[in-house]
Amino acid sequence: MPQTDNGWSQSAAAWTTSQGGDGDFSRQFVLDPAIDALLAGRRFQRALDVGCGEGRFCRRLKEKQGIPDVTGIDPTLPLLKTARMRDPDGDYRQAMAEALPFEDDSFDLVVSYLTLIDIAEIERAIAEIARVTMPGGRVLIANLNPFITACGGAAWMRDGNGRKLHVKVDRYLEDHADWQEWRGIRILNYHRPMSRYMALLLAARLQLVSFAEPPAIGGPPEARDSYNRVPYAHLMEWKKP
Ligand SMILES: C[S@@+](CC[C@H](N)C(=O)[O-])C[C@H]1O[C@@H](n2cnc3c(N)ncnc32)[C@H](O)[C@@H]1O
Repeated sequence: MPQTDNGWSQSAAAWTTSQGGDGDFSRQFVLDPAIDALLAGRRFQRALDVGCGEGRFCRRLKEKQGIPDVTGIDPTLPLLKTARMRDPDGDYRQAMAEALPFEDDSFDLVVSYLTLIDIAEIERAIAEIARVTMPGGRVLIANLNPFITACGGAAWMRDGNGRKLHVKVDRYLEDHADWQEWRGIRILNYHRPMSRYMALLLAARLQLVSFAEPPAIGGPPEARDSYNRVPYAHLMEWKKP
């Protein structure tokens, strides 16, 4: 599988530790509750998680959403190994979003949970995601906000006492790849302006159903308040007509 080094294999152990059992702050207190609300009462039969990592969200799609047939793909073998260990009956395959090993129109739900920023060839990946979605099927995308990725994470400017003033945003309209490091993780993230993702999703003939910037609704108050000043993530649902 040809792939430029993106740091994920070397970072897999630290990444898995950072997620704990319930996911990190933005998963546990922001995105999971928003996705639960969005999917409440709806029934999907066959879901694909593109960039499933160690499989937490695949397990959640089965356990919480009751989806009987869930497949996860990811190029990073050590993460897939953990996913298979944690869910021995699960279907986890080594693949890249840019070349999904599935027939056209295979899934009624395709999820990208904080992975678009990790994918190098975003044009191909979005076309592939649309291709494998069934007519009438949904594409659920949680992505980091481009005003966060523009400067590589929430780059807080602080006053002389260390208090957070505001976040720096720069080079917003340029595509760029930046190495990010935190807690033993070192990975390559891709920044693209919001308009670029939207243009690619529209070019793939997907239709936007909903767009949300969910706030943090739990967790330690200090982290929640800081998150809500400059939220990291948005959530979109698209439909394949
Ligand atoms: C930030 S992690 C998110 C993992 C998981 N979705 C979650 O929320 O815990 C990004 C994932 O994207 C994967 N990835 C990197 N390049 C990819 C590609 N070209 N296609 C699919 N997944 C990719 C990485 O291996 C990693 O598991």
